[in-house]
Amino acid sequence: MNLQHIHDHIITIARQAGGVVMQYYEQPIVQSTKSTAADVVTTADKATEKVIVAELLEHYPQHHIVGEEGGGQGADPELAEYFWYVDPIDGTNNFANKIPHFCTCIALADKDLNPLVGVVYDPVRDELFSAIRGEGAWCDGVAVRVSETDDLSRSVVSSGFPYSKWTNDDDNLAEWGRFVKRVRGVRRMGSAALDSAYVACGRFEGYWERYINSWDIAAAALLVLEAGGEVTNYAGETPPRYLEQQEIVMSNGHIHQEMVKLLTS
Ligand code: IPD
Ligand code: CA
Ligand code: CA
Repeated sequence: MNLQHIHDHIITIARQAGGVVMQYYEQPIVQSTKSTAADVVTTADKATEKVIVAELLEHYPQHHIVGEEGGGQGADPELAEYFWYVDPIDGTNNFANKIPHFCTCIALADKDLNPLVGVVYDPVRDELFSAIRGEGAWCDGVAVRVSETDDLSRSVVSSGFPYSKWTNDDDNLAEWGRFVKRVRGVRRMGSAALDSAYVACGRFEGYWERYINSWDIAAAALLVLEAGGEVTNYAGETPPRYLEQQEIVMSNGHIHQEMVKLLTS
């Protein structure tokens, strides 16, 4: 398995996908809803995922592919050695309202669901974040590192709210409030993957979210780790198959324990 070759291939696919996303962005958006009225899907999400998945199926038929819109495809997950995670548009609410902050995410993981290669592409700014396990993380091919900031009062962090927020009391409001009182700034930008890529390149010191899906965080977690940061659950642990845990804390490492303490206090 040549990870460098796969990395370069996914970059090509992500750029192609970004082109499709931007074609739809320039036209009236056609949208419907999924789990709740806050959980939006557009014709662009579906069309873009089709383009990505077709390419992956053609080149990696022996792998299993998990797409946000299409579910599982390709090889039987019981037999597959490798798993792809695809989020054609992360930040669909932004996309649907023509707010220019969203991205396409593609990641490859091994059968234990450790991410091996990840790409997060922002087609609006034409910024492409990528990482290879053990090799590093890059923005447009230039190596990136997490920030050096080591205290919360100088940190800018980001988070997101679950689509179940109208009915689930575990809605991140208490955690959000605790962070507001301790950090320099909290942002809700609306794209978990792009915000996490910003942790990798030092624009944010941290990101946290619960009820998050594997396709949102597979590429992003690898970016943060390869940029020298830390990735855990709310207990501060990184158990096997953490991508499936539905909760994530990503940081520059320096403020990680303080973030975990705020999330569990
Ligand atoms: C969502 C975005 C949002 C995050 C949600 C995700 P989507 O992904 O990343 O910022 O808070 O948890 O589901 O639905 O736009 O692909
Ligand atoms: Ca997403
Ligand atoms: Ca999505």
